[in-house]
Amino acid sequence: MTTASRRAAIEVLTTNTPDTHTMRALIKHHAGPELQFVSDRPKPVPGPRDVLIRVKKAGICGTDRHIWEWDAWAAGRIPVGIVTGHEFVGTIEAVGSAVSKYQPGLRVSAEGHITSWTDYNSRTGNAHIASDTRIVGIDRDGCFGEYVVVPEENVWPVHASIPDKVAAVLDPLGNAVHTVMAAGVSAKSVLITGTGIIGLMAVTVAKAAGAGRIFATDVDPKRRALAKKLGAVEAFDPRNDAWIAEVRKACRGEGADVLLEMSGAEPALAQGLAGLRNGGTAALLGLFKGPIKFDINSLVIFKGCTVLGINGRKMFETWYQMEELLLSGKLELDDIITHEFPLEQFKKAHETMISGEGIKVVLNIGG
Ligand SMILES: NC(=O)c1ccc[n+]([C@@H]2O[C@H](COP(=O)([O-])OP(=O)(O)OC[C@H]3O[C@@H](n4cnc5c(N)ncnc54)[C@H](O)[C@@H]3O)[C@@H](O)[C@H]2O)c1
Ligand SMILES: [Zn+2]
Repeated sequence: MTTASRRAAIEVLTTNTPDTHTMRALIKHHAGPELQFVSDRPKPVPGPRDVLIRVKKAGICGTDRHIWEWDAWAAGRIPVGIVTGHEFVGTIEAVGSAVSKYQPGLRVSAEGHITSWTDYNSRTGNAHIASDTRIVGIDRDGCFGEYVVVPEENVWPVHASIPDKVAAVLDPLGNAVHTVMAAGVSAKSVLITGTGIIGLMAVTVAKAAGAGRIFATDVDPKRRALAKKLGAVEAFDPRNDAWIAEVRKACRGEGADVLLEMSGAEPALAQGLAGLRNGGTAALLGLFKGPIKFDINSLVIFKGCTVLGINGRKMFETWYQMEELLLSGKLELDDIITHEFPLEQFKKAHETMISGEGIKVVLNIGG
């Protein structure tokens, strides 16, 4: 797009767009590790049905770690040159000419999964598994920049009582809420394998959603301690299988009612299913590095358990449930969101997350 046509496009908007046409951003500058900070990225121009958002804070996700490290998944999926990042809170700066619902000035987050709403699942209430999903910061420009554009349908107005720091991480919190609600935890014993960012969020969400006893596993002692602080009755080191017998013994000798697999570690799935009772429900969120092996005969078929694949957040049922849980005051997120860094310190921010020193790390992008 030429500078003249960009200016013309901006002028048709209902907007308080400042004069500048460039922004600070982190881009995937080459097919290799790390990101690059640039201060002259062209500011995105919203289409008629889009919203331009001035980003205030953005969360660094495990997915951003894959993009930073440029592993096989990232190399096969991420277009070189995009602005990355998909978890954020900001303020609407401008709206396209066909947008009627939202106005500049509104504080918002957004669902990062974008669909055309034309396929079978989108039209039957399951847009989170639409066949044409494109993800902000993965398939198209994301929020590690001063501005991001999303379709009007993806905007989530943030309730005034939810602080920016929390509003910046609604995306992973929504993963936890989706998993917990899909499995159904009320008055049930719950086993969570992997208490990283989303697993820890799932501990506090499950507790708020009326779970009975929560058992957790993680290889990291700091995360195990936090899982207990947030409400797990016990948190085990999974490197010794003995914990499985302890969980089964504690649950009528049969195993937990519900398994939430949130590690993406191959051994954790077989362990978790072994700790689940016959007829229990397993909700699988963790993504494995590749194809995995486990004894499906004894751990799924003869057990008669229900296995649920969990992808993203339900649009927008999960978002309403998440808001209600946040407004209830029952979620404890302060210990999970451990660090904040200005955008320019993106390297330190990513290293803090990757080293395990930080859990959820947030970038401060705009004022
Ligand atoms: N399905 C989806 O829509 C979706 C969305 C976001 C993330 N994910 C996936 O969910 C998983 C969790 O994401 P996250 O952001 O919380 O990642 P994370 O890295 O913060 O958490 C993973 C945790 O698993 C722990 N772990 C490692 N090996 C383990 C083992 N053998 N047993 C138990 N715990 C073990 C790690 O110590 C860590 O605390 C990842 O695999 C991620 O890719 C899936
Ligand atoms: Zn994320």
